Amino acid sequence: MTNLAVIESPQDQRSTAPAQREDNRLRLEDRAAHDWYRFVLSFPAHLVRTYIERFQLSPRHTVLDPFCGTGTTLVECKKLGIQSHGIEPNPMAAFASRTKVDWEVDAEALAAHATNIAQRVSDKFASQGIEDEGGLPLFQPRQRPLAHLKTIPSDQLKLLLTGSISPLPLHKTLLLLETLEENREPRLAAHEHLALAKTLVNEISNLHFGPEIGVGPAKPDAAVIGPWLRAVKAIANDLRHFHQNAATPASVHQGDARDLVHLLGSASIDAVVTSPPYPNEKDYTRTTRLESVLLGFIKSKDDLRRLKQNLVRSNTRSVYKSDTDDRLVEGHDEIQRIAEARQILPSQPVTKWSA
Ligand SMILES: C[S@@+](CC[C@H](N)C(=O)[O-])C[C@H]1O[C@@H](n2cnc3c(N)ncnc32)[C@H](O)[C@@H]1O
Repeated sequence: MTNLAVIESPQDQRSTAPAQREDNRLRLEDRAAHDWYRFVLSFPAHLVRTYIERFQLSPRHTVLDPFCGTGTTLVECKKLGIQSHGIEPNPMAAFASRTKVDWEVDAEALAAHATNIAQRVSDKFASQGIEDEGGLPLFQPRQRPLAHLKTIPSDQLKLLLTGSISPLPLHKTLLLLETLEENREPRLAAHEHLALAKTLVNEISNLHFGPEIGVGPAKPDAAVIGPWLRAVKAIANDLRHFHQNAATPASVHQGDARDLVHLLGSASIDAVVTSPPYPNEKDYTRTTRLESVLLGFIKSKDDLRRLKQNLVRSNTRSVYKSDTDDRLVEGHDEIQRIAEARQILPSQPVTKWSA
């Protein structure tokens, strides 16, 4: 058996104490729950708090974020005891939001189960001669035949940004996922998978954000178990402190904000705090592509196309002949004036691009 103390070495903990960041970043004191998983599009928690104070919102009110992404608005509202609703069509982001407002999980059970999983995966690694200290400059990663490494089906591999994860880190991640599946605890699975999504992006993959998502130099190896276990334990630690507002309702609707009326029914909303997708040529699905595919939220090209069709158009590569958004704005003089000034005319023919 591999000693778990190795898995949780100080080496793994060095990235847990970032320096104070710029004002548009998540502040250190706000990290609880917000930091379980975020993406480059997330806005900072203190911004939501500023608007909640400015609008004088209290636990008597209900807040909506129709483009909730990874749930910053919902988490911040919940911390303040304010009920909230979020809408998000990206299944990975919706999953993150939903999990980040689920504070009724037993922290001790989560930490214990994750520790047990870590030990089991560690044993699998040991039986295959795999070490998990990847990324340390002192060690040369072993060369091993790629044929023995687990991978995902080739049509799913094609959905990933090329080179976004190296073969050995992918193999290790799939062993962890397999072990999680073999020992699945339904009430803990979401938090354990969310921790893996975060670890994948931040530590296991070759991705970097600057602020666009990009692929950096390929890491031949990367530690998986230690960083993942540390992420789960950070979640468990937050859960231990969340008793006060754990029951404040926060619901996440996986869907299209343009269908708001059907998604929310007659729910009454007092305020909207949001940051919509802007027409900035970003393909918002790229940001979450790796974890969406590995965690099974996007399994095929068709899944990806369906997701893109549910997103507000933000880039010209995802515009479809059947789009009818122009009808939503035909009665808005201000929008028509801007569109005419920029020659974005509704009658303009659009090209259908494949996903
Ligand atoms: C700027 S991000 C919001 C990030 C969020 N404030 C956070 O802190 O994570 C915009 C979000 O709108 C989502 N979005 C795109 N089209 C949408 C639609 N039709 N309905 C609802 N959300 C949509 C995108 O997937 C993206 O997550």
